[in-house]
Amino acid sequence: MSQHPSHLTTAVPRRAVVTGAAGFIGSHLAHALVQAGTVVVGVDRRDPTTDPTAAANLAVVRGLPGYMHVTADLLSCAIEPLLIDANAVFHLAGIPGVRPSWGPKFSEYVASNVLATHRIMDAVARMGTPRLVVASSSSVYGSTDGGASVETDRPQPASPYAVTKLAEEQLCLAHSAQAHCPTSVVALRYFTVYGPRQRPDMFTHRALTAALTGQPLRLYGDGHQRRDFTYIDDAVAATIAAATIPTASGVINVGGGSSASLLEVINIANSLAGREIQVHQERPRSGDVLTTRANPGRAYEVLGWQPQVDLHNGMRAQMQALTAESAAFGRAA
Ligand code: NAD
Ligand code: UGA
Repeated sequence: MSQHPSHLTTAVPRRAVVTGAAGFIGSHLAHALVQAGTVVVGVDRRDPTTDPTAAANLAVVRGLPGYMHVTADLLSCAIEPLLIDANAVFHLAGIPGVRPSWGPKFSEYVASNVLATHRIMDAVARMGTPRLVVASSSSVYGSTDGGASVETDRPQPASPYAVTKLAEEQLCLAHSAQAHCPTSVVALRYFTVYGPRQRPDMFTHRALTAALTGQPLRLYGDGHQRRDFTYIDDAVAATIAAATIPTASGVINVGGGSSASLLEVINIANSLAGREIQVHQERPRSGDVLTTRANPGRAYEVLGWQPQVDLHNGMRAQMQALTAESAAFGRAA
């Protein structure tokens, strides 16, 4: 393997804010940062003392001396006090998910993905926080010809969710381009992240759960749609690099590790569980694109980042976590 570019550094921020810390990616990021010596303020509107998903996601960090959790809604809370002395803000809070963004829930997407992001961006700029890393999405590319998407491609979002993610990243970049703005912004376009604690609405989680329980799996379309599946630890490594490399800025793809169709994911789940998933095919869902595929060149050039975990190994780790969870749940019940 070739060497990483020489301008890269591995130092982590001394103090950082992670929004969306009670979520899938946010909780992994907060944990990795604390392990690396960063003092982390995690912010999320889901309260780990009352919300079981938040409690489960945050179990790895709650109680650690380097972690402080704040339950707050970014649409209304005072943000500036959270940012005192922060070297970096990782803004992962938002409403994810392509399919539910059609219909009345759209206003929630706009509120959390666009309006809350505006409040964060305004606050980091006023507080002089040097770096904001914001979670964007592969969905901004929309339908492609199946080739790898480059950051300079014209975005063609195909769902209301994707429109809000494009607005979110561009809003932050527009703020940071102002002459007086002290904050540099890196917008990471994550490609379908999977692994332990993945959101239960996502395909990999559902396929592995079906394989473990014997319950049927609903497949939207013929299963030939492809995703550039990105393992959570790889996504976290890129996210930390995006905050620590002084020269990083602009939009960067985080993907490119494991292009696979849904049928391939089902086959891996079958082989890991040693049983055939019962598949119920349904109509394709609006806003879903046929293929996502990242060109990871800029991520390597700017962040020195390359995905390390292939789909088979990543799904095995996710299955082991699901098995451990259900065993723990069984004991507690
Ligand atoms: P998640 O739902 O597990 O986490 C998001 C968290 O944000 C939740 O805990 C939620 O309570 C919190 N949140 C939402 N609105 C908030 C608000 N107004 N104030 C405070 N907290 C709020 O989702 P995830 O899968 O971890 O995704 C994290 C981010 O990455 C999202 O912005 C998502 O759009 C983006 N993303 C995710 C993927 C993926 O594959 N998971 C891919 C591309 C982009
Ligand atoms: C995922 C995340 O959910 C988004 O938040 C994120 O922005 C996006 O990745 C991204 O890469 O930017 P998606 O690719 O739709 O979105 O991932 P899944 O929700 O895992 O769905 C993948 C495919 O599986 C879709 O074609 C979907 O229709 C299909 N699917 C999903 C099913 O067939 N059955 C299900 O039960 C769930």
